Amino acid sequence: MTKTARITGFGSYLPKKVLSNQDLEKMVETSDEWIVTRTGMKERRIAGAEEFTSDMGVMAAKEAMKKANIEADSIDLILVATLTPDHIFPSTACLIQKSLGASHAAAMDMQAACTGYLYAMSLAKAQIEAGLCNNVLIVASEKLSSIVNYNDRNTCILFGDGASACVVSSTGSGYAIDNVQIGSDGNQAELLIQPAGGSKQPASIQTVEQGKHFIHMEGKEVFKHAVRRMESAAQQSLDKAGLSKEDVDYLVPHQANIRIIEAIARRFDLPMEKVFLTIHKYGNTSASSVGIALDELIDTKDIKEGANILLVAFGAGLTWGASVIRKMDS
Ligand SMILES: CC(C)(COP(=O)(O)OP(=O)(O)OC[C@H]1O[C@@H](n2cnc3c(N)ncnc32)[C@H](O)[C@@H]1OP(=O)(O)O)[C@@H](O)C(=O)NCCC(=O)NCCS
Repeated sequence: MTKTARITGFGSYLPKKVLSNQDLEKMVETSDEWIVTRTGMKERRIAGAEEFTSDMGVMAAKEAMKKANIEADSIDLILVATLTPDHIFPSTACLIQKSLGASHAAAMDMQAACTGYLYAMSLAKAQIEAGLCNNVLIVASEKLSSIVNYNDRNTCILFGDGASACVVSSTGSGYAIDNVQIGSDGNQAELLIQPAGGSKQPASIQTVEQGKHFIHMEGKEVFKHAVRRMESAAQQSLDKAGLSKEDVDYLVPHQANIRIIEAIARRFDLPMEKVFLTIHKYGNTSASSVGIALDELIDTKDIKEGANILLVAFGAGLTWGASVIRKMDS
């Protein structure tokens, strides 16, 4: 009989330092009013100089493991979703494996930009349901401040640092992963890109002088794709789960822009009370954003057994994904 993959514990970690819209007003030509009305963001967190993607990931992972009540040596696989790994190699997953002392775990990074948490959920579900693993640790962690150009007002206002994690298991109580829908369109790869630092344009004095190691984004175009792709992924996930929009108790979207989120909510006739937001506090934390919001939702709301939570995300690649998770009877 197929096992049901379920999330048995969630965690998140946000660095202490706050970068507010007022701080950004002193760095680039912008205003609190522009940022709030165009994005919904008021502040975001920035990791310390000696705090890296792996460190934040470990903090989130420890919380998720504690809530799932599992020890490090029972983890079979660690999947780390990030586009800001500590190093290009070895993987951040291996660094996290070492810090946790997860001596029986295989470990690897996955790169699906802001959709990374959902891509990792899809793989974790498959590993559990195929009987290949009993416990998969998903970590999504980003130090986006390391690749943001703080002279570029088009991008520097949007991004923040942070991490999230969850434990996906074959047994135990928690949230059943009904399905995960994922997709991609590499034709649009140039719309959101870090051009240099890889094998195509290795880091050099020239690439640094030209700012090619920073995030480059065609914001307006990305916006249009985001709305379209998230709508269709969310619909696919609901269809697959045999649910209608009325069955959605909470929507946890990728926290990229409040206008994108409101457009998705309108499409599914969801009142904003059902939409969980962290965008005002943390901005866009890429792969970790859905997981941070999900952890806060579960910590702060009284979620009833049988409740359906719709997750939806979108990111560079382009990539997108959606999932329905359902609170199981305890
Ligand atoms: C980036 C984004 C907020 C910009 O909002 P927008 O309404 O599309 O704004 P535009 O890019 O059309 O810019 C409008 C004007 O505001 C200006 N502007 C851009 N950033 C600004 C800022 N921080 N402060 C003040 N003005 C700014 C632009 O220069 C432009 O000025 P112009 O008309 O004189 O040329 C929006 O496009 C967005 O959120 N896109 C999706 C980004 C995203 O989700 N990325 C991650 C995907 S995971």
